[in-house]
Amino acid sequence: MYPTKSTILVTGGCGYVGSHTVLSLLQSGYKVVVLDNLSNSSNSTTPEALRRVHKILGTNDETSPIPFYNVDIVDRAGLVLIFEENRDISTVIHCAGRKAVGESGRIPLDYYHTNIGGTVILLQVMEEFNVRRMVFSSSATVYGDPPKIPIPETSPIIASMSVYGRTKVMLEHVMNDLSVSSEWKQQQYVKEQEAKGLPIEKNYRWNIILLRYFNPAGAHPSGFMGEDPQGVPNNLMPYLAQVAVGNLEKLTIFGSDYPTKDGTCIRDYLHVVDCADGHVAALEKIERDESVGHFECKAYNLGAGVGCSVLDMVRAFSKAVGRDLPYVIAGRRAGDVPNLTADSQLANNELNWKAVMSLDQMCEDLWRWQSNNPSGYRNK
Ligand code: WQD
Repeated sequence: MYPTKSTILVTGGCGYVGSHTVLSLLQSGYKVVVLDNLSNSSNSTTPEALRRVHKILGTNDETSPIPFYNVDIVDRAGLVLIFEENRDISTVIHCAGRKAVGESGRIPLDYYHTNIGGTVILLQVMEEFNVRRMVFSSSATVYGDPPKIPIPETSPIIASMSVYGRTKVMLEHVMNDLSVSSEWKQQQYVKEQEAKGLPIEKNYRWNIILLRYFNPAGAHPSGFMGEDPQGVPNNLMPYLAQVAVGNLEKLTIFGSDYPTKDGTCIRDYLHVVDCADGHVAALEKIERDESVGHFECKAYNLGAGVGCSVLDMVRAFSKAVGRDLPYVIAGRRAGDVPNLTADSQLANNELNWKAVMSLDQMCEDLWRWQSNNPSGYRNK
């Protein structure tokens, strides 16, 4: 139904995971359209993250621009315009959304408005334009405090860790419901057409992949692209990077009394390039499925399958930087769970995807990015 290398709309395509995904898609031969409201990235006509994509590819943003729309996902008219102007969009990779766990508890309505409201509007506009293929950025946070490590996709999905986490859980339900209802709608349509003796020409079914990211980290090996958080970073890796570059004094480790090997929390850090490639793998899975008439909504873990404690990470990143980084140990952070490590078998088997970058490479790449760009994209 679609050309093999079709056009993909990447929402949040100027963000950390989104921009690396845009690069992976272009390197794999896809055409890409980017939507971003630049709320978490530098602001300009051609956003700096996309200039960097061109720089890595050796392409020119004037002669072969990546179509870019400064549009918010809650802006229905803006979304309609994108689909009107890009009739060949086959799939949406939906990375746009608000993602700061702490902030989400302070301004929940903003989170529900953008993440839930915006996604529902996006799905409605996709329906209007008969685009029913979606790869969605979900999160390991949907597992809450899981009963079993490593975590399989069948682990219960809970809804209590943070407002941000709840938006991801709710959106997984939204997409499952949409998928189920689309099967029903197709069956009704087929029955009606058969009763009238008419051919089956339309397809109402959705194909959706939910990618549950563990902890994306690191930067592109070129040192040109990486994470550029606004203000003081909330997450461990960008915080450590800011300590290393001298913008922050020391790391505060949240808790050393967890039931883990050294008392600090364990996470499954995933190189951002592996994470980006996971989106291309998901897209290819949807294409394979559709070629044999298979439609579903299915979740996959994107993790390396390796648990790393906060202290392990401090050591690994200090090694990349070449000196010990200062830290203090403080109390636990609300909402943290002791261990989130992926069982990544399902993605290995069904997406033909595996994390291939090591923890050392992740740290070296992050340090290259941060030391070359101490103020992220803003000083360029
Ligand atoms: C990792 C570990 C902290 C900062 C969150 C979201 C998740 C995903 C990624 C995406 C924890 C400890 C951290 C610091 C510390 N979302 N830490 N000092 O909480 O696992 O996951 O970000 O957009 O959905 O929930 O990631 O990097 O914040 O924390 O000790 O200054 O590092 O306590 O154990 P987390 P993180």
